[in-house]
Amino acid sequence: MQTDLRGRDLISTQDWTKDEIETLLDVAFDLKRKRALGEPHAYLRDKVLGMLFFFSSTRTRVSFEAGMAQLGGHAQFIESRTTQISHGDTAKEIGEIIGRYTDGIAIRQVDWGIGNRYINDVAEASRVPVLNMQCDIYHPFQILADLMTIMEEFGRDLRGKTINVSWAYAASYQKPISVPQSLILLMTRFGMNVKLAHPPEYKLMPDIMEQARENARKSGGVLEVTHDFNEGFKDADIVYPKSWGALLTTTDDEESAAIGKKYEDWICDTQRMSFAKDHAIYMHCLPADREIEVANDVIDGPQSRVYDEAENRLHVQKAAMALTMR
Ligand code: CP
Repeated sequence: MQTDLRGRDLISTQDWTKDEIETLLDVAFDLKRKRALGEPHAYLRDKVLGMLFFFSSTRTRVSFEAGMAQLGGHAQFIESRTTQISHGDTAKEIGEIIGRYTDGIAIRQVDWGIGNRYINDVAEASRVPVLNMQCDIYHPFQILADLMTIMEEFGRDLRGKTINVSWAYAASYQKPISVPQSLILLMTRFGMNVKLAHPPEYKLMPDIMEQARENARKSGGVLEVTHDFNEGFKDADIVYPKSWGALLTTTDDEESAAIGKKYEDWICDTQRMSFAKDHAIYMHCLPADREIEVANDVIDGPQSRVYDEAENRLHVQKAAMALTMR
């Protein structure tokens, strides 16, 4: 068990060893149990987390804020547009200054080609740990919560389990690619068979694909890619169909919407669920485009674990804060 995580940033799960991630999960399970029993666990009394958002959020904001309060500390909600960031405060200044006021900085900056660079620049200048609440490349806390949820269902040893990480159609907006990228990176480290399904225009970053292949090689897992939506569901233990933008093909919203229209039938419905194993679970990070990305029968049905996933955001984030912000 790796216990010396004080001061560590968490920007991508790739930055943490498997042992360190196992420690985080151990603590998350313990904190979930403590909360269920009403046991106090104020490990961060008088500590402050600065939460800087460049983009909207429901789950991430509320779970980080609630988590800090439950750990005995305080979380500050900071919106980029109501600060002097809009008049020129740089990433270096934010890291230096907010790092002197707080004990940790959490950031959501999902702008394509900008977000991850920004978070790393803040981290370089900051004396306190920086936590990635989602960037253009990674969404580590979502995927750690997903892993916890999968372990609750199938146990801690996930070798040989098959997860279908699939693109699905959505009409709302070009969603970031950070969720599928983080999923393939983390699940391949745990020896899982990862089936990545997407239309040809919805490729993920080549460097991420290469890292995921290397993770699979080391863990004895598999990463396979298909462009056939139905094929992705076949024999899966876990299905995770969600929309993302065709960002490696075009950054033009209109062009992207036109590409997406070709694949309107990529909706997760009960027929597609029937291709997966009988015990398969349905997952989605939310928000989902209901009746477009996923049928209500599925997301509200007995195989859905979306509310457990959302709950587990709280526990993994509390674990990360308790370990890094002591
Ligand atoms: N899944 C997720 O990150 O939700 P929010 O965008 O609401 O924070």
